[in-house]
Parts: sequence; C-alpha cells; structure tokens
Amino acid sequence: MNKHVILPGAAIGIIGGGQLGQMLAMSAKEMGYRVNVLDPNEHCPASCLADTFIHCAYDNVCGLTQLANCSDILTYEFENVSAEALKMIDSPNYLPQGTALLEMTQNRVNEKRFLQKLNLLIADFQVVTTVEELDEAVKKIGYPCVLKTATGGYDGKGQVVIKSIDDLAIAATLLKQSCVLEEWLTFDQEISVIVAGNIQGDYVTLPCGENIHQQNILHQTIVPARVSDDICEKASQLALKIAQELQLTGVLAIEMFVVGQQVYVNELAPRPHNSGHYSIEACDFSQFDLHIKGVCGLPLSKPHLLSPVVMTNILGQHLNESLQKMMAYPTWHFHYYGKEQSQIGRKMGHVTILTDDVEKTLAILDETNIWDKKGDN
Ligand SMILES: Nc1ncnc2c1ncn2[C@@H]1O[C@H](COP(=O)(O)OP(=O)(O)O)[C@@H](O)[C@H]1O
Ligand SMILES: [Mg+2]
Repeated sequence: MNKHVILPGAAIGIIGGGQLGQMLAMSAKEMGYRVNVLDPNEHCPASCLADTFIHCAYDNVCGLTQLANCSDILTYEFENVSAEALKMIDSPNYLPQGTALLEMTQNRVNEKRFLQKLNLLIADFQVVTTVEELDEAVKKIGYPCVLKTATGGYDGKGQVVIKSIDDLAIAATLLKQSCVLEEWLTFDQEISVIVAGNIQGDYVTLPCGENIHQQNILHQTIVPARVSDDICEKASQLALKIAQELQLTGVLAIEMFVVGQQVYVNELAPRPHNSGHYSIEACDFSQFDLHIKGVCGLPLSKPHLLSPVVMTNILGQHLNESLQKMMAYPTWHFHYYGKEQSQIGRKMGHVTILTDDVEKTLAILDETNIWDKKGDN
C-alpha cells in the first residue's frame, strides 16, 4: 500500500474545532478514523468529538507538535493557520495539503497573481499600501471599487466599498497593511464550486451552488445554481484547472461572480466552505467526506446531486426563532453547531431543505420570518 494512503483506524489531526472541524470530524468518524482536534477554545464545536483534544493557540508549535505526534496526518479547517508554525513541527507526520496553498490563499495579492498566471478572469485590481497609492489606484480603477486588506479578511471584514471620494478617508484606515483595490463588479449571480483532489491526481467537483449574501455573510446556497448549463460548466472547468495546477489534496472552494456569460474568480478557500454544507444531505458524498478521502489518499468519484436543495444559514439573530419554529418543519435538516455564545452575525447553525420546487421553498423560508432580522437592526 502506498505510504500516503491512510486507512480507517488511523488518526486525523484537525487544526481548528469550529463548525467546519466539527463536520469534518463527523465524516471522518463515520468512515472509522480517530480524530484529534486542536483549538484555543476548549468548548469549541468539535471538542466533544475529539479522541484527543489539544487546548492551545493555532500557532503554538508545541501544541501542533503534540497534535502531529498523536495523529497519522494533519489537516486544517480554516486558512488562517500559521504556515510558519506548521513548518516548524518536528514530526514526520504528513501534512498532505502542504503549506504552499495555505500561504497563497492567506494573501489576496498572491492569490490574484496565481489566478492571473492561469489566465482566469478576475476583477481589475491594484496593490496599494499608502494613501497616495490608493488615490492613484482609484483614478485608474474608477468608482465604485472596493478596498480589501491583503490578509485576514472574512465575511466582509477588512474591506470598504468606495462609491465616491467621500469614502476614501474611511477606506484609508485599512492601510495599516497591504491592501488590494478592486473594481466593483455588477454581477448577475454569485456562485461557488468546491473541488476535491488526492495525491493520486483524481480531481472532482461538487455541483455548482448559487450564493446569496446578506451584509457580506453567506445567507443561502441554492443548488442547482439558477444559471445556464454553460456557466456551470465553465465554473467546474475552471475549478478543475485550478485544482490540477495546485495538485490539490483535500477540498478547495472557489467563489465566483457571474457577469453575463463570463465567470470571474473572486476568492479561494483551501478547506470545506459554508456554501458546500448542502452536500451533506443533497449529495452522495459531502464536501467533508471528499476532504477526508482526499487527504487520506482514498479514491474520489464525482459526487452526484440527489435532489435540488436550499441551504440557509442560522446566525445569532436567527437562533431563537429557528429553534421555536423547528417543530413545524419535520422535513428540514436543522444543524446546530453547539456554540456556547450566540452573537449577531455569528454562524450558529444552518438548515438544509431538499426540494423539488426551489422557488416554493424560498417562499416558505421567507414566510417563516426567521430570517427577517438582518443583523443591522
Ligand atoms: N469586486 C467585487 N465586486 C462586487 N462585489 C464584491 C466584490 N468583492 C466583494 N464583493 C462582495 O462582497 C462579498 C465578500 O467579499 P469577499 O472578497 O468574498 O471577501 P470575504 O473574504 O469577506 O468573503 C462577496 O461575496 C461579494 O458579495
Ligand atoms: Mg468570500
């Protein structure tokens, strides 16, 4: 057996025990792996699933080494794991995903240069670090545009939309670090594709999802995406191209904008993604199954969509309403992550609805009034 094939019975160490780590752990356990988890919060969602739980910061080399020593391989649930700390782990244990992809996706500038090298369509951008550079870049790109920090952004954090000269001062407050100024695209839809790979070079994509954001946080994913077959095909092909170029192991999520017949790449995430949660019930292999199989060197087959589906996030402001209304919807799959503290805008769970009529399901979701609170009121 190839030494990179890790069979059930072995232990997988997951860096990060949030909901993504939790759902990864559930897939791994179903397949018969042992699971070890490292997280700074001892009550994190994945802690109760861990055979061994290591309570420390993500970049604590000692803790990471401890995790590696009790695991056959390591993986991570999110991209802000320190690549430097990972490189310092003094353990033979195999990090199938490597650190290069982490380093690339941790920085929007590197990510955009990689996408440019592959000749993929991306929003026009300029790298800026000073107010003068910002002024110059705005002249080139024009209004509206969006300034994003090169590192550390998520759910719209670390970015400012610049509609006119009046927004420049607030945008300039981001310039404590390198930023990218991006052209604002008037898109028809946002879509995403999750692609999985393994060391043997199998690459497969999950069905393309249509994503609806509210306040920059994913609200809903609808599959099949309400775009043409041609757009879905373009999106899957570009995902496969990226995966092959990276010799991807595990899953990578690719967020995209659809503008007319064109597909722009927005950003990459080298991990399971919120827009892939639908696949737990709606596909024969979920994104979490594919990630575990991918990093363990097991063969991958193209996942099939079993039913059209709508996934809707349950944020802090939706939690109580959703729990109260749960009894009324026996066919809905409610997932709660067991986070101790609920906050506005915090992802507390999600609901997945298999349906043969997406529009009707969207109308029913609307009528529940669970999602009336947008987070700004
Ligand atoms: N260049 C752009 N044109 C239009 N909308 C954008 C652009 N960049 C970001 N957005 C909107 O903001 C959301 C969050 O931006 P994104 O770059 O994906 O950052 P994050 O890391 O916060 O997810 C996107 O999903 C999209 O709705
Ligand atoms: Mg995004």
